[in-house]
Amino acid sequence: MRSGLILGIESSCDETAAAVVERGARTLSSVVASQIATHARYGGVVPELASREHLRAVVPVVRAALADAGISLGDLDAIAVTSGPGLAGALLVGITYAKALAFGCNLPLIAVNHIEGHIHAVLLHERESLSALDECNPERSEESALQFAPEEAGPIEEGALALVVSGGHTHLYLAQPIHNAWSYKLIGRTLDDAAGEAYDKVSKLLGFGYPGGPWIDALARFGDSLAVPFAFAQIKSKLHLVGKTPRTKGAKTSPIADLDSHLLFSFSGIKTAVLRYVELHNLRPDAERRAARLFAPQSSAGEQSQEHGYSEPSADSDGHPERTPSVAKGESKNQLLVATPPNTREEALHLCSQQVLDLIASFQHAVVGDLLKKTFAAAEAHGVRRILVTGGVAANRELRARFSAEAARRGLLTAFPTPALSTDNAAMIAAAAWPRFLAGEFAETSLSGDPSLALGR
Ligand code: KG4
Ligand code: ZN
Repeated sequence: MRSGLILGIESSCDETAAAVVERGARTLSSVVASQIATHARYGGVVPELASREHLRAVVPVVRAALADAGISLGDLDAIAVTSGPGLAGALLVGITYAKALAFGCNLPLIAVNHIEGHIHAVLLHERESLSALDECNPERSEESALQFAPEEAGPIEEGALALVVSGGHTHLYLAQPIHNAWSYKLIGRTLDDAAGEAYDKVSKLLGFGYPGGPWIDALARFGDSLAVPFAFAQIKSKLHLVGKTPRTKGAKTSPIADLDSHLLFSFSGIKTAVLRYVELHNLRPDAERRAARLFAPQSSAGEQSQEHGYSEPSADSDGHPERTPSVAKGESKNQLLVATPPNTREEALHLCSQQVLDLIASFQHAVVGDLLKKTFAAAEAHGVRRILVTGGVAANRELRARFSAEAARRGLLTAFPTPALSTDNAAMIAAAAWPRFLAGEFAETSLSGDPSLALGR
């Protein structure tokens, strides 16, 4: 008997990913081919290179996901694919391959919004944690079955506030389950850069790697977060925003003027403030030297086994994926970039001065503080008890600690995906597809990617 198996395919930015998830609640496999090695030397994602890397990786990654799940294409019930927002060429690769597979195997195709995928990464993790608890405690299992039995989509069916915070988005949504579907209302967003973008730009400015989040996260622990006083100006009036479209890449949604100005973010100012600090304290030559040392072409010292031409992220002791660069088949060994963020104070100090560590810690403290302040203000304004925090930046350790502490202080619930599910992956796409599968919401064969696909009202 078929058991609700969905193959998810994700290719919206710089990770080619495929996963098999059962009934939106159990991950059978999740494979991510990172393109970090390709883009790191440019300090950001180069769209043309991303498309080329997706083309190379998509077939072996899907094969690996099926093999890891121990199933074949014939066991699937549907194929889900990210249809936007994202890079046009990158989306096209995943969509074209998903369509071909669906057509060839006579399976329904489900289009998933990438941002909705991030929200479902938390729900998937919650469902998996609950079922792990149930397995340990059969009595509890019966109890939860009684309480939630008819819900195909699992027990986590309470409305929530979702903060999606990644390299492309810093968006606040009210997420509400209605029967088997979820509806979303955008209530806040960034006016300019996404928080992850600010991390990436500050990391590049200071001579560290791409993506910047894991570097800043690792280094900030060794600095004084109060050393440099960064402030976020309150966005005062909405009037000047009438008719403005945000500059961010990613989803275009409601006009900004319709949103509560207290729930608008802006991260371009802090990026400029870090730049000013760097110039004022003459830290640029030091950053340039560091970048040259860290990212000089290396020998094959960091090469990983690349049997399929993909690599799965390994995890450190906190379960954070190590974003070790992977390399696609055929790429020259000499181009490998082997730098990884430090683990100890000695390693951190070896990389940079205490002044730079303090700057990094202060930057992170300010960004997390702003995300925290506005998210909890939104929860209060909308009377929401449950906060889901997701997207690449949700992997951040300080963010998790401070959100959890603040939620506990206020008697609210907060949930995150695992660090590996926080960044782009396909398990979240397969999980988000499950309610659509139940509702029979299938995509036409004419499906195409929408780089600025909006989520919700
Ligand atoms: O969700 P994601 O993989 O891709 C997008 O949808 O954008 O997020 C990538 C972003 C990058 O900007 C990266 O620097 C940031 O997430 N990121 C982090 C951490 N890990 C990844 N930011 C802060 N702390 C981290 N540990
Ligand atoms: Zn993402």
